[in-house]
Amino acid sequence: MSDSTKTEAHDAVDVIRTKRDGGVLSDPQIDWVIDAYTRGVVADEQMSSLAMAILQRGMTREEIARWTHAMINTGERLDFSGLGMPTADKHSTGGVGDKITLPLAPLVAVYGVAVPQLSGRGLGHTGGTLDKLESIPGWQASMSNEQMMDQLRDVGAVICAAGSGLAPADKKLYALRDVTGTVEAIPLIASSIMSKKIAEGTGVLVLDVKVGSGAFMKDIDMARELADTMVKLGTDAGVKTSALLTDMSTPLGLAIGNGLEVTESVEVLAGGGPADVVELTVALAREMLAGAGVTDVDPAEALQDGRAMDAWRRMIEAQGGDADAPMPEAPHQHQVLAERDGVVSRLDALGTGVAAWRLGAGRARQGDPIQASAGVTVHRTVGDTVRKGEPILTLHTETEGRMPRGLEAIAEACDGAGAIEIADSAPERRIVMETLGTTSVGTVS
Ligand code: URA
Repeated sequence: MSDSTKTEAHDAVDVIRTKRDGGVLSDPQIDWVIDAYTRGVVADEQMSSLAMAILQRGMTREEIARWTHAMINTGERLDFSGLGMPTADKHSTGGVGDKITLPLAPLVAVYGVAVPQLSGRGLGHTGGTLDKLESIPGWQASMSNEQMMDQLRDVGAVICAAGSGLAPADKKLYALRDVTGTVEAIPLIASSIMSKKIAEGTGVLVLDVKVGSGAFMKDIDMARELADTMVKLGTDAGVKTSALLTDMSTPLGLAIGNGLEVTESVEVLAGGGPADVVELTVALAREMLAGAGVTDVDPAEALQDGRAMDAWRRMIEAQGGDADAPMPEAPHQHQVLAERDGVVSRLDALGTGVAAWRLGAGRARQGDPIQASAGVTVHRTVGDTVRKGEPILTLHTETEGRMPRGLEAIAEACDGAGAIEIADSAPERRIVMETLGTTSVGTVS
């Protein structure tokens, strides 16, 4: 609660007016407003007004950097320097079927680079890494900083929940943005993500910025601007930061939904799995390793020869999980069939993501329960040929009553045109569309 006897250095209304009128916030104004909001002196309605002014007026690079550091300063900073090994982390801006963290963290650990992967839960149509891993019986997301350090030393990889001590200002501000239509401001997204990643203390950070219908950033220009802003923020803070802009117009892989995605990740760790998931996992691993100075290896090999699988099993078991447990199967399943012969030319990420969410794989509000077995499996993706009557998708749910709403999401996607389109040919699909600040993979033209 606020200390009413304390004289505040600034006035929230003056700060709001400065930004509302297109001005540049001073360093003391930024430091104060973030700190005062965290202390409860700046009210939610004042912060939401400021967030709206930032969304409309933007921020200079200097303002974004100061805002990010002010948020970091509201909490603790982790320090992995005592580990004696390089650290690398990956952050995805979120997508449909994006299970890459699961095979990626153990894969990178194989090469002696520690991966402290602090992850989140899904909200809306994009899935959360912790929700996926919680489909594994016994697996625990919460860890103390000491447990995390021990596991990094013993296993080399940790995927766990970010503690409440990292950038608490962001936690409060993100929840407010979520309900005030101010999530989509690039300065606020960049500072939100980077405050947590810089506070986490990783030496190398690779950003997977998603582009397309299933992503925050629907077009490549906005994704590029977000990526560029985050790469500069990280680099200026001493974190070796790079970004890949990757396709999220089509779901990644053939599984959407928590347990279904764990099964697919294990297939990738066993040397199989869908080509797009393998390609992106290897591209991100290569980039993380290159940032940590490991350049003379081919991460694809450790997927083939069982080393990544061994690291996965150790990582899951260290957090109480049963790596051999089969994933649950949904009691209600429904197939969506091809309406004509041809080639799948569209499988919309947003439509399929919303379907999986409605079937029970995601939550509408923080704290809602989710279903481990709910989701969508893809039998034919973009570029695959199909004959009339063959299955394109299977929808899975534990609650029969959810099935019609899941089917509606498929039928009503893309402004009523439907999530699935079958034509005579399909557009070429590029998974890695562009790279920024990278050391390992050249720009894909
Ligand atoms: N993820 C975050 O952590 N913050 C945002 O603002 C958007 C995505």
